Amino acid sequence: MSFRTKLWGQVGKAALQGAKDSFSKLPVLAPPPKAGLVPLEEAWGIPGTNVLIAQDLPYSIVPLSERIKQSVVHMLLWLLPNNQRLSRWDKATATRELTAFMGLDVKLDLWKDWDTDEGWARLLVQGPCAGDLKKEGDVWVVDCSVLGLAEMREGCAPLGVKVAIHVDEAGVRPAWIQKQDGTKVYPNEGEKWKVARVIASAGLHNWVGMVRHVLNLHYVAAQGLSILVHNHLPFEHPIHRLLWPHVAGTLLVNWGATKNFVGPNTIGVHNYAPSWNGWLKLIPVGWGAFTWEDYDIPDVYVRRGTDELIRKGLYPFGEDATLIWGVIRGYMDDYISQYYPDDASIVADKVLQDAFVSLDKVLPKPLRARTRGELAHVLTRFISMVSLEHKLVSGIAWDYMSHPYYLPNVAKEAATVEEAVPYREEAEANVMFRYTISAMCWRMMEDWSYVALDEKGKGAIRRFRESLKQAGVEIDRRNRSRKVPFPHLHPDGLETSVAV
Ligand SMILES: [Fe+2]
Repeated sequence: MSFRTKLWGQVGKAALQGAKDSFSKLPVLAPPPKAGLVPLEEAWGIPGTNVLIAQDLPYSIVPLSERIKQSVVHMLLWLLPNNQRLSRWDKATATRELTAFMGLDVKLDLWKDWDTDEGWARLLVQGPCAGDLKKEGDVWVVDCSVLGLAEMREGCAPLGVKVAIHVDEAGVRPAWIQKQDGTKVYPNEGEKWKVARVIASAGLHNWVGMVRHVLNLHYVAAQGLSILVHNHLPFEHPIHRLLWPHVAGTLLVNWGATKNFVGPNTIGVHNYAPSWNGWLKLIPVGWGAFTWEDYDIPDVYVRRGTDELIRKGLYPFGEDATLIWGVIRGYMDDYISQYYPDDASIVADKVLQDAFVSLDKVLPKPLRARTRGELAHVLTRFISMVSLEHKLVSGIAWDYMSHPYYLPNVAKEAATVEEAVPYREEAEANVMFRYTISAMCWRMMEDWSYVALDEKGKGAIRRFRESLKQAGVEIDRRNRSRKVPFPHLHPDGLETSVAV
């Protein structure tokens, strides 16, 4: 790790942590401000979209100190890619320097066999790429082929890949990689396989980072949820209070991303493979393809065939996600029953019904809830997306997405692995980017009962906390018998919102 990256990474992280500290208690004593909205067409220059996003925030919830700290971080992040000396970073040096830099943060038990085919295939069952694993014939795949629509930045390999693995009692192992041109590469093909693995890894990194994380979670779920709370539900409405911890910091981080992360010559475009023109093609396609059902746990696992793996204990992400989903659903049923005695009372809540209708213009697909069960389902899915799904694609990114030989942010067409991986300066920029955005935010296990309207709400929130503790005991038990532990969905490490 160069002095430059180490220094700037630490400055960036300290600045972000300082900003978080200044928000350690949410301002619940006064109604929060509303999001300012402009069409996506105007914000990013994407024609033909009628989507609204939060473009700016009232100064009242973004203190001057926060704005200054954000400016410092962004200035530092800008300098590195614009000041590049492109050099090679061999595997051994990168591993040694990254391990030293990450210090106690690094999960050595997760990383010890990262360079083997098995360690790599594990990304699809318990790494950041596990969120949309599905059965296809006799293999299990993650399909990133939509990235083929996007032009890449100069020198970056095309990333419209599909990755297939075998999963059985013997463990996980790769089956094949289908490249964007349709050709398949198999694990017995020597250096050709190793190069294909680097390119496929970059495909997975960009698929997870751009589509599953930024678009689906930040700009669809979290943004929709925060607009529901901030703009359409009164401060004294029980659903406003229920969702308050789950939108904490969302408008701020999305505002920051809109201003600094997305757009020509921005941090996001420097750290992902597609060019800005590529982003302009991907965003509307991803928006149009989004479905809420894709995030319905556990139903979606049945549709993808992964319920079979869950029954056999071979899909750690799916197993723990199902457990946490159940806890959130229990909380929703409990909380909703405190304020709504029957289904008729849901329909009779005109403010709530109108709020869902008002959301139509900011969501790719409409949401409705006419019964207590439907409301519990919609809210469970929202919270699951901003907490456990976000943990998968973002919260664990520091552990997995920072090693340029494991899950690189870009790749090149080349004859050898050393030439296919990103240059040292590109990898360092990504490491620093991951480092600065990996500050821990509001924790799910904190006592959130102070945001409740009354004793009924407080009781439900406290019972939720108890159920989470029990789920943590169960996850600890599961990890004692897993070949490689999967600690990431343990409630102690879950956050309430996508604030980072
Ligand atoms: Fe995020």
